[in-house]
Amino acid sequence: MLKVICVCGARPNFMKIAPLVDALSRTPDATTILVHTGQHYDERMSRLFFGDLGIPAPDLNLEVGSCSHAVQTAEVMKRFEPICIEHRPDWVVVVGDVNSTLAAALVASKLGIKIAHVEAGLRSFDRTMPEEINRVLTDAISDLLFVTEPSGVENLRREGVADDKVHLVGNVMIDTLLRSRSRADGSAILATLRIEKKKYAVVTLHRPSNVDDVKTFSSILAALETIARDMPIIFPVHPRSRKNLETSELGERAKRITDLRLVEPLGYLDFLKLMADSAVVLTDSGGIQEETTILGVPCLTLREYTERPITITQGTNRLTGSSTEAILKAYREVRDQPMKPVKVPDLWDGAAADRIVTRLVTASRALGLL
Ligand code: UD1
Repeated sequence: MLKVICVCGARPNFMKIAPLVDALSRTPDATTILVHTGQHYDERMSRLFFGDLGIPAPDLNLEVGSCSHAVQTAEVMKRFEPICIEHRPDWVVVVGDVNSTLAAALVASKLGIKIAHVEAGLRSFDRTMPEEINRVLTDAISDLLFVTEPSGVENLRREGVADDKVHLVGNVMIDTLLRSRSRADGSAILATLRIEKKKYAVVTLHRPSNVDDVKTFSSILAALETIARDMPIIFPVHPRSRKNLETSELGERAKRITDLRLVEPLGYLDFLKLMADSAVVLTDSGGIQEETTILGVPCLTLREYTERPITITQGTNRLTGSSTEAILKAYREVRDQPMKPVKVPDLWDGAAADRIVTRLVTASRALGLL
């Protein structure tokens, strides 16, 4: 039997690891150990998701918590290495692009353990983004690279990754979305927030480039001020953004905007319902660009570039950057013009995790691990 360690650490990892752990539990060829690094640890940033997504409790929690990038990465490495030495897995499976992803992959690579990276190949071509560094480095040391969209395959080819390591398999985050839709429909979040279907906007912001710089955050708030005159805006505030609002004059300004509703981060099912029924989503998240494409909800991405270009060419996404005028221009277009037809990206069909496990087992046989 294969021994597989699956690693998750931060909020967007949980939606990706859930279908993988499930698919691995259904194959007779593997046993799985789930490791949570503890990069995210708040009830609302972590535990809520395990319940909502039906992920079994992690077998091990490294409890690294929040610290600088170097310390966080190093702490995951220090605490993950003895686990790999004790359990000697055949594979370490990492997902996404957070610090925990890179840290776990580095440990496995130094111990000669095979690495599978799920959501490989995405590139923003912006090396000031911590996630871009994590993506490039994790991909460089992975043995199997599971890719969500054709741009990822092209990027890896350009970087010289051998074709036989690269597998276009679809999107595990969409596996989770499709599996959760009917349960999310039962969420009472619209009633709780006293809002009506298709008559409100949703905002999420957490990228350091948007929320750590007061001028940029202020320019985004100015756009929200105008949009809030049209419709209520629900803004579940990420801890990083909350800290920045509270430590600058922006917090008071945000509170004064009637109909900009600052709420705590939501669980997966409530947030899915909130997104699905909204008129428009404004975000700097990666995953939300993909989820809105599947939900058919217009998405304005408050960044200059996206590592998920298929959400623009085929989906509902458009890039605005963070200037007030650009955000408002895109918002008005979305509000006043009919939406262009959406084409669901190939393989975003709910079966990506099964494909990944099949390929993992096949590759293991070829390597003599099974
Ligand atoms: C991390 C990921 C980012 C991902 C995001 C989703 C990296 C480099 N960044 O960014 O890719 O999109 O998660 O949320 O890995 N905090 C809490 N409670 C928590 C977690 C964090 O209060 O449970 C606060 C801490 O003050 C911390 C800050 O949020 O300093 C930022 O957390 P951190 O994990 O360092 O980065 P994120 O901005 O969440």
